[in-house]
Amino acid sequence: MLRISIETPDDSQEVEYLYDLAFAPGRQALSSYRLRDAVPPVAKLCMVARGEEGVLAGAIRYWPVAIGAAKALLLGPIAVHPTRQGEGVGAELIEASLARAEALGWQRVLLVGDAPYYRRFGFERVTGVEMPPPTNPERVLGRALIKGAFGGVTGIVQQDVKPRRSRG
Ligand SMILES: CC(C)(COP(=O)(O)OP(=O)(O)OC[C@H]1O[C@@H](n2cnc3c(N)ncnc32)[C@H](O)[C@@H]1OP(=O)(O)O)[C@@H](O)C(=O)NCCC(=O)NCCS
Repeated sequence: MLRISIETPDDSQEVEYLYDLAFAPGRQALSSYRLRDAVPPVAKLCMVARGEEGVLAGAIRYWPVAIGAAKALLLGPIAVHPTRQGEGVGAELIEASLARAEALGWQRVLLVGDAPYYRRFGFERVTGVEMPPPTNPERVLGRALIKGAFGGVTGIVQQDVKPRRSRG
């Protein structure tokens, strides 16, 4: 049994513990975190997966970013509790949140991660989109939520402190 819901303030501390458990110490030193500093996540897309008796199995968060004039979502962090990995929890979180992002009108999603995992969700390497250094360009992956959403989108990924109504 798995219940996926939007993260609430009551979940937040538990989610932070899960991220600390799933990632190497010092995760906040990763360059992708510079895009998250002092910027609130996209609350409508941050989700938790809870199993039996409400135990936290996994969590996903998103941040708003900008590539030039183009708005995008930065997927991550995503983590699944070590005792629940390989059961499809990560897949359910990714699919549920991407479907919601699309329904909310977002056009494109970026992440820094392992292509062999994210490929199954339609992510592929995006060229010409630069994450803050040091980031291995091979790990910069994108997924268009509408056809051609990465066409002509190039440049350095920056914080998007004031998300506009239009996300084009
Ligand atoms: C990566 C993670 C979120 C995947 O969640 P999950 O619920 O275990 O994954 P799923 O059950 O949906 O998928 C399992 C499949 O993904 C594969 N997989 C998991 N991590 C992978 C990786 N980094 N690279 C390639 N394949 C990976 C598994 O081998 C398995 O393959 P199979 O379906 O062929 O057996 C989870 O393993 C995790 O929290 N890892 C630690 C934190 C982390 O690395 N987060 C991602 C940062 S980019």
